[in-house]
Amino acid sequence: MKQKTTLRTPRHIAIIMDGNGRWAKKQGFARVKGHEAGAESVRTAIRCCRNAGVQYLTLYAFSVENWVRPKAEVAALMQLLRRFLKNNEHELHENQVRLRVSGRLQDLPEDVQREINRVMEATKHYDAGQLILALSYGGRTELTEAMQKIARQVKAGELPPESITEETITQNLYLPDVPDPDLMIRTSGELRLSNFLLWQLSYAELYFDDVLWPDFREPHFQKALENYSKRKRRFGDIE
Ligand code: FPP
Repeated sequence: MKQKTTLRTPRHIAIIMDGNGRWAKKQGFARVKGHEAGAESVRTAIRCCRNAGVQYLTLYAFSVENWVRPKAEVAALMQLLRRFLKNNEHELHENQVRLRVSGRLQDLPEDVQREINRVMEATKHYDAGQLILALSYGGRTELTEAMQKIARQVKAGELPPESITEETITQNLYLPDVPDPDLMIRTSGELRLSNFLLWQLSYAELYFDDVLWPDFREPHFQKALENYSKRKRRFGDIE
């Protein structure tokens, strides 16, 4: 059972970084330029979380659905990921932040998988915070894979169906130990969840900003935090 919380700072923020393509189009650039500018906002978000004492930050960097985008755009996003790891690894070490992935890492190009696995391994003992990249991530895919794992345990006689609880489902998700997000931010004015953390966002506070992701910088982040701090979270209870 969740407790009512009076915490003013979210422990875990999840972000749908939307609007890179539209930002680029508005400036007359190729879509890829929007993703590049978006990567700068990623750095800002990480810094803001660190300064505010947010322990977990999950970024929806690439969805299972994103594979259908033009080959060149997918390749550019993978390249940005390589560059991001190369340029930011030292900051993870400096700040004792652990890198993790939620999603089907096995779908990514092998060299990217290798590099991510290396950085995850090198940062796995850090406990100042966690940066979680949702990569080839889909909420329904995650739940489907969890159901398959559970079904195998039932079939093997290790798990009686009647003992399946919400906790069983949670324990079979990609990152069972990560607490649910307290705050979900989506930029670019779209009011959708887009298959993001469907199970984990059940009780999250939702915050939508019209600003496109490449323009979402410190003042916007602060506004989201301030807005969150005024929310009353009841988890189904009364005042
Ligand atoms: C959505 O905007 C954004 C993405 C699909 C990719 C997000 C990636 C980044 C911010 C870049 C790098 C990230 C890391 C972690 C290095 P969109 O392309 O759907 O925008 P649109 O709706 O305006 O077309």
